[in-house]
Amino acid sequence: MNLNSEFQDKTNAYWIVSTEKTSYPQLKSDIKVDVAIIGGGIVGITTAYLLSQQGVKVAILEADYILQGTTGHTTAKITSQHSFIYAKLKKDHGEELAKQYADANESAIHMIAKTIEDNKIECDFRWRHAYLYTTLDKYVKQIEDEVRAAKSLGIKAEFVEEINLPLTIKGAMKFEGQAQFHPLKYLKTLAEKVVANGGQIYEQTEVIQIDENEVVITRNKHKVKADKVVIATHYPAFDGGGFFFSRITQDRSYVLGLTIDGEFPDGSYINAESPSRSLRSQPYKDGELILVGGDRHKTGQGQDTNIHYKNLLDFANETFKVQDVICRWSTQDCLTADGVPYIGNLTARSPNLYVATGFGKWGMSNGTVSGMLLSDLIVKGESPWAEIYKPSRFTSASLKSFVVQNIDVAKNFVKGKIESLPEEVDINPGEAAIIKTNDQRIGVYKDEENRLSMIDTTCTHLGCELGWNTAEKSWDCPCHGSRFNSAGEVLHGPAIEPLHHLGADKNWVEARVFK
Ligand code: FES
Repeated sequence: MNLNSEFQDKTNAYWIVSTEKTSYPQLKSDIKVDVAIIGGGIVGITTAYLLSQQGVKVAILEADYILQGTTGHTTAKITSQHSFIYAKLKKDHGEELAKQYADANESAIHMIAKTIEDNKIECDFRWRHAYLYTTLDKYVKQIEDEVRAAKSLGIKAEFVEEINLPLTIKGAMKFEGQAQFHPLKYLKTLAEKVVANGGQIYEQTEVIQIDENEVVITRNKHKVKADKVVIATHYPAFDGGGFFFSRITQDRSYVLGLTIDGEFPDGSYINAESPSRSLRSQPYKDGELILVGGDRHKTGQGQDTNIHYKNLLDFANETFKVQDVICRWSTQDCLTADGVPYIGNLTARSPNLYVATGFGKWGMSNGTVSGMLLSDLIVKGESPWAEIYKPSRFTSASLKSFVVQNIDVAKNFVKGKIESLPEEVDINPGEAAIIKTNDQRIGVYKDEENRLSMIDTTCTHLGCELGWNTAEKSWDCPCHGSRFNSAGEVLHGPAIEPLHHLGADKNWVEARVFK
């Protein structure tokens, strides 16, 4: 099987291809609102929805179109089961803060369910038990400990010896009362409610600066004056002294949407071991689409990225009788040092700036927690879950990560600079390569019409060297996870500025790239 050609036209997230694109206006004047929200994913829209319901005047500013980023590339499990978390939270933060985390995520599930019921939203919502399973003896005790910890915090958890998947397992943790849905159908309705409540949504409106008076400035030089600003851009677009780049790592994972012979059991599933495997189903035509996810790796540090899709397909073929692969997509997740997202004031010194980031693989529940927590902080000045999520916390775990992360960054910075590279290359359409001039690494991408895009492969965030991602056709940074498309435009932060293009050197490079 030629994986490249088989998957070439299927790199689109199911949620995005199965809903119509939105068309909110671009901001074309200066405005004043109570709260400016930067980013139109689950955090931005949920926060705007909850605030606008309470009479707060909000504006969402989205650089692209809403819901096309990480929220559009999720597996959309709505669960408080976040792999192994509760035993660790109790150990690292104590019973009270661990309970804040459990309560917040259980409340998020119920907030989503109630919102869907109250507004009669058609979004394929289903209650589903969630399972964390293992096929290895060595994880059984850890699962038993996790069950005990979750139960002590009020979650309906139990250890089970069997699950309905055709896998031989050693044990599993079952959470009752969990759910799944079509995230874009749900959130598009919430966005419409925001506007109905008097809120504003602007697309194609990229924010490039927030000044000290909470004035948000767009690339088109329009100003949004706000009393409060929420940074809901997945990776914080503005650091503001929070040093998030040293406290967040980014990784990539992959999803296949496929049809199978036979029934997929009720439930959503994830394994305890590596490589990660995540499973759920979704109504599709007259049957079910099975979402098989996993194969995570640190952004910019994976092998040939097509391999990850092949690994998932191999697993699916071993587990089910696969009929057809309908779609595939990848996603990028932010992970924090202690496994708990950063939700709250950007720093201890920024009372009017808020951030929500670092959800790991659990963006639907923690994204909804963000909306609930931030709207409470903005309207009431407090939230019952504020302490566990406080972005300015600094634990010994995050200190250790700070050191490890920066060793990794330094290694990639140096590796990139001294690597020996060819001065001429032979590349096919749809491929890219890096060549060197006297003092510069140059990334060359050849499109299907043999046109070349040439960029300086130095990341515009902090100067690490980028690598080419074959499956997604992007330039990825191994240091903090920024990604750029083949033309050098930013796909994922923390970088804000596009890659530098070549000027006079262009002809020199063209003469050195062959077919
Ligand atoms: Fe920080 Fe590239 S993302 S140097």
